[in-house]
Amino acid sequence: MGFKIAIAGATGNVGREMLNILSERGFPADEVVALASSRSVGTEVSFGDKTLKVHNLETYDFSDTDICLMSAGGSVSQKYSPKIGAQGCVVIDNSSAWRYDAEVPLIVPEVNPDAISGFTRKNIIANPNCSTAQLVVALKPLHDRATIKRVVVSTYQSVSGAGKDGMDELFNQTRAVFVADPIESKKFTKRIAFNVIPHIDVFMEDGYTKEEWKVVAETKKMLDPKIKVTCTAVRVPVFIGHSESVNIEFENEITAEEAREILREAPGCQVIDKQENGGYITPYESAGEDATYISRIREDATVENGLNMWVVSDNLRKGAALNAVQIAELLVDRGLIKAKKQAA
Ligand code: A2P
Repeated sequence: MGFKIAIAGATGNVGREMLNILSERGFPADEVVALASSRSVGTEVSFGDKTLKVHNLETYDFSDTDICLMSAGGSVSQKYSPKIGAQGCVVIDNSSAWRYDAEVPLIVPEVNPDAISGFTRKNIIANPNCSTAQLVVALKPLHDRATIKRVVVSTYQSVSGAGKDGMDELFNQTRAVFVADPIESKKFTKRIAFNVIPHIDVFMEDGYTKEEWKVVAETKKMLDPKIKVTCTAVRVPVFIGHSESVNIEFENEITAEEAREILREAPGCQVIDKQENGGYITPYESAGEDATYISRIREDATVENGLNMWVVSDNLRKGAALNAVQIAELLVDRGLIKAKKQAA
């Protein structure tokens, strides 16, 4: 007997990807339920070769559901996750609502799988920010080998990270440029078509944005609180795939070739680093793929034990839906959850 899984936010970018990935990976689910707001009730979403009718999250009874993959935004998660958890259903939440709660594990299975055992306190597990997930997958094996002291990361984040509306805005603005229509900006603070915007999420008191703060706080929580991290987060006119320029300073010596070898063997990583025209990955190629790709690995001679690298991944997959499904798989593989229907 398998599990009963609910997807909250099933009509959104990440929710749809969660359904695809559950089906692709053959997650042991007997029943999958699609949930969204009352606006979407009765509409349909695809799950493998089936279609699922969308139900209302607000009125859904979770008492016989085992796992809820939630991607419906922070305020929705804040409101519903504790209630769902209290009904004995484990919430794996993609928003930032619970990531910094000391009683909620923040998990990337390739990086800190053992921290998952703390989920029972609230029955909530947090999925990291999309930029952090791919970053820590690439940093962890290098940290294990040479101990990272400091990381400087600049992100190039696609519009799908801002949901369906973000993708529509890039499409509509690009079209408007070609047909000379007026350009409307609603989701982004400035025009995103043929432009880049150095601003994601709200500004904080110290002048950094919340997105930049998340990368710092989450890297420390999952990898090592001693690592110094600084970030500049930038939105670029790409539909899917986040890229990152990453500068790393290590405690111990490590060459670019050693880093390449370590990353070639590391879980979730794929090195594409030919140092020739096209011998690197771009976000367009990462779309629809599971790996965190690493290119342009080179030594930084301006610091002792420094490396630069280029890290790219599909933000809807490793940055969100795939990581959430991998967390669900970790719960099952470690026997941390039992199907309620089987238990009854
Ligand atoms: P809906 O389509 O009914 O609005 P995205 O980030 O791609 O925009 O997707 C957001 C997801 O979160 C959608 O599935 C959306 O459903 C869902 N959502 C937003 N607000 C609520 C809410 N109040 N209750 C339940 N689901 C919500």
